[in-house]
Amino acid sequence: MKELKEYVRSIPDFPEPGIIFRDVTTILQDPDGLCLSIDELREKLQGIDYDMIVGPESRGFIFGVPVAYAEHKAFIPVRKKGKLPCETVSIDYDLEYGKETIEIHKDAIKPGDKVVIVDDLIATGGTTEAIAKLVEGLGGRIVKIVFVMELEGLKGRKKLLKYDVDSLIKYEGN
Ligand code: PRP
Ligand code: MG
Repeated sequence: MKELKEYVRSIPDFPEPGIIFRDVTTILQDPDGLCLSIDELREKLQGIDYDMIVGPESRGFIFGVPVAYAEHKAFIPVRKKGKLPCETVSIDYDLEYGKETIEIHKDAIKPGDKVVIVDDLIATGGTTEAIAKLVEGLGGRIVKIVFVMELEGLKGRKKLLKYDVDSLIKYEGN
């Protein structure tokens, strides 16, 4: 059986020279790859007591929702600015290639809720650090963070030292 890493397509010099883009669409377009990715994420959450998965638009939705569905947990979307219709809290952060503002519904997380964050990728860690601030600002407690892929060379984990962080596929570079 193929390993999950074998489903990832690597594109050199995208979006800019020197960067190797790790493409998850090739995981998703193969039914075995899709199943394996969700199953492996679920395995990482075995034995963790949590109430909800929080995942960021847009690639975090792809992986977060199937895990939440399979584990019968809630899914809370973090969205880019201006998309959520009710009262939100928002935060600005630096992305690998620019700046971004993300938001979460204020009533989606209650003090004491136990939260798992799921996303496709940790690069600089900026996105997840921002999500963690939103969650904790609402009184949520982050019990686990899991990524499909991790670019170890960008040292994103340094921003997440106080959390239990895991990833399915690790790349040494960036
Ligand atoms: C990408 C990726 C992660 C984030 C990782 O999302 O899906 O969410 O960047 O980078 P970081 O660790 O440096 O913050 P992007 O903002 O490009 O949007 P997308 O998910 O909508 O493609
Ligand atoms: Mg993303």
